[in-house]
Amino acid sequence: MTAELQQPKGNHRYQEPSQARMLKIPYNSTLSSGIRSFSVLSGLRATTIEPSNTNHPKSQSHLKNDEPTVKHANLSNAQKAYLDRAIRVDQAGELGANYIYAGQMFVLLRKHPHLKPILTHMWEQEVHHHNTFNALQLKNRVRPSLLTPFWKVGAIAMGVTTAAISPEAAMACTEAVETVIGGHYNEQLRVLTNQFELDKTDGTRGVPKEVRKLINTIKEFRDQELEHLDTAIKNDSKEAVPYKIITEGIKGICRIAVWSAERI
Ligand SMILES: [Fe+2]
Ligand SMILES: [Fe+2]
Repeated sequence: MTAELQQPKGNHRYQEPSQARMLKIPYNSTLSSGIRSFSVLSGLRATTIEPSNTNHPKSQSHLKNDEPTVKHANLSNAQKAYLDRAIRVDQAGELGANYIYAGQMFVLLRKHPHLKPILTHMWEQEVHHHNTFNALQLKNRVRPSLLTPFWKVGAIAMGVTTAAISPEAAMACTEAVETVIGGHYNEQLRVLTNQFELDKTDGTRGVPKEVRKLINTIKEFRDQELEHLDTAIKNDSKEAVPYKIITEGIKGICRIAVWSAERI
């Protein structure tokens, strides 16, 4: 079985060099060895059932009424490794988002109580995102980022610092973070949609149910992150001083954090 994802047809963004390199990380790399065998989506390791056998009543007796008889082929090692990285980085990112809002709320609510409903709404959605990826991480036995303590400290410092500058700077922080995270989720959606089609026992191809569920989760969260981006702009993120330094600096930090949390 190949350890690399097949090159997709068409001119998709996941063909960019950085993405291609990421997908070509060998399965037996130092980072993944010893962990990978426990951290795949085990539910996707479907046993092939020959279509001709599934028509016999006895052959279906062990299946529940709503259980499909058509099975997908197994994921490749590269696909399993990609799913691990995706869940790891998303869990770390949502954890970071929670700590950013915690820092901002702590500083802003005393002097600017009118921001409470806005920040609370966004924070509640981040809590849901974080809980969801925590559950996915546990279910699929994905190793958390080893830099988790650093993400916590860094994120709360980012929230406190930007809020201490001004409410507009806090919103500029949200604008920058959500710009990067929205793009990050879009990139994951492109890969999961285009590179996880597997052969099925009925002769067709399709994306396995568990991967489709992950795609829907990421779509939902991506849309909410982009709502946070709009909320930040509506609340004067562009009035922050110095806007360029804050937003470009935070975008750079977020990109480094995404790259690191996928791997470490
Ligand atoms: Fe989020
Ligand atoms: Fe967000």
